[in-house]
Amino acid sequence: MDRKSFLKKSALAAFSMSVMGYVVEASPKKWMSTCETTNDILGPFYREGAPERSNMLFEGIKGNEITLKGKVLGNDCTTVLENAIVEVWHCDTEGNYDNDSNKYLHRAKAITGQDGSYSFKTIIPGKYLNGKLYRPSHIHFRVRAKDHKELVSQIYFAGDPHITEDPWASQKKAVHRVLPVFPDDITASLSVEFDIFLSNL
Ligand SMILES: [Fe+2]
Repeated sequence: MDRKSFLKKSALAAFSMSVMGYVVEASPKKWMSTCETTNDILGPFYREGAPERSNMLFEGIKGNEITLKGKVLGNDCTTVLENAIVEVWHCDTEGNYDNDSNKYLHRAKAITGQDGSYSFKTIIPGKYLNGKLYRPSHIHFRVRAKDHKELVSQIYFAGDPHITEDPWASQKKAVHRVLPVFPDDITASLSVEFDIFLSNL
């Protein structure tokens, strides 16, 4: 095999390993599947009691609207999980969280359907300072499903210049949670897709 075709074959092998969900060694004693969604910090602004709703938009809201959608799956990388609870929360375009109003602005939860799917209409959040650095725009997640470990995580937006210096978004384990905003087929409304893979108990 010449060098060129060897490189091509190696690249293909690496690709199929990443899409087929082979197991990898996460630490010397723990094995996990490659699809398992990695965790992130809870942060100080989580509130219990966010309402169940898919439309998080409201009169006078500022910001670029997106549909945030995906599925919740098990760590075999294929089984969809019905009745999973997906909670999301984020700041407004000025970097502020609603920490006390009974409107729970920019906060919601969804229960996944038979196909494991969830969906929220919301906005791309703004940024707030963490010390001297702005945190990149992000949306917090807390996800629970029967017989699975609870996941607390965050997503980020591809191309955000504040990712590289952020202590959490810049971690290697966050790379699959830095997501593109793309126009949906036909409607062209902006969307972000985040499939969430939970680990077994
Ligand atoms: Fe946050």
